[in-house]
Amino acid sequence: MADRATIQFNDVTLELPVIVGSEQERGLDIAALRAKTGAVTIDQGFGNTASTTSAITFLDGEKGILRYRGIPIEELAEKSTFVETSYLLIYGKLPSKTELADFSRLLTRHSMIHEDMKRFFEGFPGTAHPMAVLSSMVAALSSFYPEAIDIKNREVIDITIARLLAKVRTIAAFAFKKSIGQPFIYPRNELSYCANFLNMMFAVPAEQYPMDDDAVKALNLLLILHADHEQNCSTSTVRLVGSAQTNLFASISAGVCALWGPLHGGANQEVMEMLDQIHESGESVDKWIARAKDKNSNFRLMGFGHRVYKNFDPRAQIIKRSADTILKRFGINDPKLDIAKRLEEVALKDQYFIERKLYPNVDFYSGIIYRALGIPTNMFTVMFALGRLPGWIAHWKEQIESPTARIGRPRQIYTGPTLNHYVGMEQRA
Ligand code: CMC
Repeated sequence: MADRATIQFNDVTLELPVIVGSEQERGLDIAALRAKTGAVTIDQGFGNTASTTSAITFLDGEKGILRYRGIPIEELAEKSTFVETSYLLIYGKLPSKTELADFSRLLTRHSMIHEDMKRFFEGFPGTAHPMAVLSSMVAALSSFYPEAIDIKNREVIDITIARLLAKVRTIAAFAFKKSIGQPFIYPRNELSYCANFLNMMFAVPAEQYPMDDDAVKALNLLLILHADHEQNCSTSTVRLVGSAQTNLFASISAGVCALWGPLHGGANQEVMEMLDQIHESGESVDKWIARAKDKNSNFRLMGFGHRVYKNFDPRAQIIKRSADTILKRFGINDPKLDIAKRLEEVALKDQYFIERKLYPNVDFYSGIIYRALGIPTNMFTVMFALGRLPGWIAHWKEQIESPTARIGRPRQIYTGPTLNHYVGMEQRA
């Protein structure tokens, strides 16, 4: 029997069309609700609300499935590169050999930033969080490439996408160099996307950075795993800003700000700080687990729990495996990895975490690999942003190109004072 949905509100009965996705997800279309009944729906945190249809990423939180354009994340993690995955997300298919070569060439060609932009870095205090620098710089790109506002022009969109992917990597590395007081290292055209980033981060004019294939591979892996995650907080932000037909640079800058929050991308920095704190405290893991369960403690086990994954986060499983391999490969014995594993072991047996379906998420182990690559803790969320960039771009593009898209403008249920008149200063109590 075909799905049927009806809403009965007072004396109005409304039949709701059921939208069925390619993976048989069902959505009740309430577009006519307010006009027919005068009522709206309310759904704090959007736990039950699809803001859009989308053909980019499929995710099943119960089964732990994540696929970009239909391809399982496990296959991409094993076989793809970040640049190829970016193309897949943005343009909807795996590139041919020529398409990939052309795309890579574009990213290489556009990797330098305008010399005047370099001076912006001087205006930030040395203590500036690199996410503050990143969001400002991304928004500032629109002043150097004002043609980006022409969002109906296919060629402009393509070149803006290439500029953004190429330059964000340079901006991120420059932000790091500024924070440690070292000279900026320019991109080098003979290096691949990830190798170029590592070189800009760690080379100095006096000495070359010895490129390590395993480090490049690890970075590719982490960026692929972060590349998209459908309608999360930052992606929804990018789409919402884009729905006002805002240019790509400005929309992505808003996404960077959303990602910064500790409940979202900022969690990877918080996880590492938490592991450091546990290590330094010398206290048992059980004590910290007890603290995470105590509602009066204000402490949450960072890197645990997810709005959508209620079984396991496939990205966390891949990262955990590669953390072991990479630390072994670099000969690093990081006690934080042992603490993380112990936390996971204890939490997964604990009724509190079992009942609430709280599992390690993508941020739980990623910091351990970033640290092994030499990336400092305050750059972790920037790394997340670098990885999430193609996903944000793909969603912005899908939003802009949709013939049925409307400006995003949620309703509200007003709970403030009813009609209330202005009182002159002398009459106020
Ligand atoms: N530690 C302890 N308790 C937790 C945790 C945690 N990490 N996460 C959720 N809970 C409890 C929460 O207190 C609540 O308990 P109760 O039902 O007794 O009130 C219950 O589990 C449900 O939590 P919620 O906050 O209502 O769940 P949510 O879906 O709104 O939030 C979350 C999801 C990811 C924000 C949350 O799990 C969290 O704060 N985790 C820690 C931060 C983190 O790791 N964020 C990264 C998310 S993955 C990367 C990304 O996509 O951004």
